[in-house]
Amino acid sequence: MSTEKEIKRITTKALGLLKKKGIKISALTAYDFITAKILDETGIDLILVGDSLSNVFQGNETTLPVTMDEMIYHTKVVTKGVNRAMVIVDMPFMSYQLSVDEGFRNAGRIMKETAAVGVKLEGGERVAETIRKITEAGIPVMGHIGLTPQSIHQFGSYRERGVIKTEADEILKDAKIIEEAGAFSIVLEKIPAKLAKKVTESLTIPTIGIGAGIHCDGQILVTPDMLGLNLEFHPRFVRHYSRLAEDIHKAVDKYIQDIRKQNFPSEEESY
Ligand code: KIV
Repeated sequence: MSTEKEIKRITTKALGLLKKKGIKISALTAYDFITAKILDETGIDLILVGDSLSNVFQGNETTLPVTMDEMIYHTKVVTKGVNRAMVIVDMPFMSYQLSVDEGFRNAGRIMKETAAVGVKLEGGERVAETIRKITEAGIPVMGHIGLTPQSIHQFGSYRERGVIKTEADEILKDAKIIEEAGAFSIVLEKIPAKLAKKVTESLTIPTIGIGAGIHCDGQILVTPDMLGLNLEFHPRFVRHYSRLAEDIHKAVDKYIQDIRKQNFPSEEESY
């Protein structure tokens, strides 16, 4: 349960207040109605319709293939299940990299066609002008720095970022530039905890970490990962709060056996 359940609807202002009060922000991803509804009922603060849906929902190797239409479709079904949490949508690969205007137009399209509260985009200084233009139009923007999966082919691996000094300095600089450009929050992915602490302390907006240690203002995980739906995927930063893959196997095995043994349906389950 969230400590701030009395907040009726999580806004960007509410998130800022949580940082000020030192209350940690909880965030998870969702891609469908029923999961979003359950997450919202728990009191989670923020739900991200992440482009990780490309991996965990569509079965792709990277986040690159997911399209604007698909992000919009999933956001529409997610927001139907949410009353309290803030719903943020990832802008997919190539929806904002082409030009500031293209990013601006696509952010506007997401806001027009879904009930999301804002958008998230990856990158530091190179997307600052896009962030500025989108926020000036009244659309909340979340930044995302450190490991940025949309640039996987540039980096060549999902290794931790910000370990060497030049990379760490760049991450800190990017964080400040994004804040200055108008972002309301920043995701810090897979960077050393010490660096995440430094970034968090140097910003007034909340940082949300994934593989970035305890000092961030909040934490996010990909929901199917933390629920243990794919137990083979277990990087260090993922804690399995459940082992749903095993539960599903057991339940479906039992169902098959019951059908074969004519134990299902029973008389009470029949008309
Ligand atoms: O796409 C996603 O799920 C994300 C989170 C990992 C932050 O960007």
